[in-house]
Amino acid sequence: MTKFSSEFRDDLHRLMRWRRDVRRFRTDPVDEALLQACLDTFQLAPSVGLSEPWRVVRVDSDHARTAALRNYETANAKALKGYGSDRAKLYANLKLSGMKESPVQLAIYCDEATAKGRGLGAGTMPEMRRYSVVGAITQFWLTARSFGLGVGWVSILDPAQLNRDLKVPEDWALVAYLCVGWPEELSETPELAKAGWEDRDSALSILSR
Ligand SMILES: Cc1cc2nc3c(=O)[nH]c(=O)nc-3n(C[C@H](O)[C@H](O)[C@H](O)COP(=O)(O)O)c2cc1C
Repeated sequence: MTKFSSEFRDDLHRLMRWRRDVRRFRTDPVDEALLQACLDTFQLAPSVGLSEPWRVVRVDSDHARTAALRNYETANAKALKGYGSDRAKLYANLKLSGMKESPVQLAIYCDEATAKGRGLGAGTMPEMRRYSVVGAITQFWLTARSFGLGVGWVSILDPAQLNRDLKVPEDWALVAYLCVGWPEELSETPELAKAGWEDRDSALSILSR
């Protein structure tokens, strides 16, 4: 099918409006086939030079989960110290990960050393490989949401420590730690906006040159 209906476009827009970064999960499991259907969308994503540099690590064992959670708690405590008193109070009340509850946790890496793609497009800007991984994550995120699943992106982590704990190759760069599961609630408003941390801009600013 090469044509998409206006109803589909409306639905797609609604999907983007209701996507949300989720940090509050129910603990019931996610069906493996459903998770796989979401993960399959990685391979549909654009990538620089067709390098497909994404690498997915399922963080399943108690040992790995405990290490990741400890990593987050340490980084979060450090981040808290960086804010002045009013912001620190607000920050301390934010829930910034669902790592204690979410049934599925994925560390998404970029393989910086991949030979795939033969360097095309990444010569002057090797960071394009990481951007390719971000694009793939976005597809995964939207697909998961279309099934009613929530995804939460955690970046408050020491990536070098996580690499060691998950025993991944040194030239894999952490792009995202994703918590996946059934959300406790759905909303059209980002949680950080609800909490008074930051608002969405009312319009996209576009420059002309
Ligand atoms: C690259 C990236 C890193 C993020 N890291 C975190 C994080 O560590 N903790 C968190 O609670 N949310 C994190 N988020 C989610 C953002 O806070 C969220 O996307 C933003 O507030 C807008 O809300 P929405 O995604 O529900 O629209 C991250 C999002 C992105 C794209």
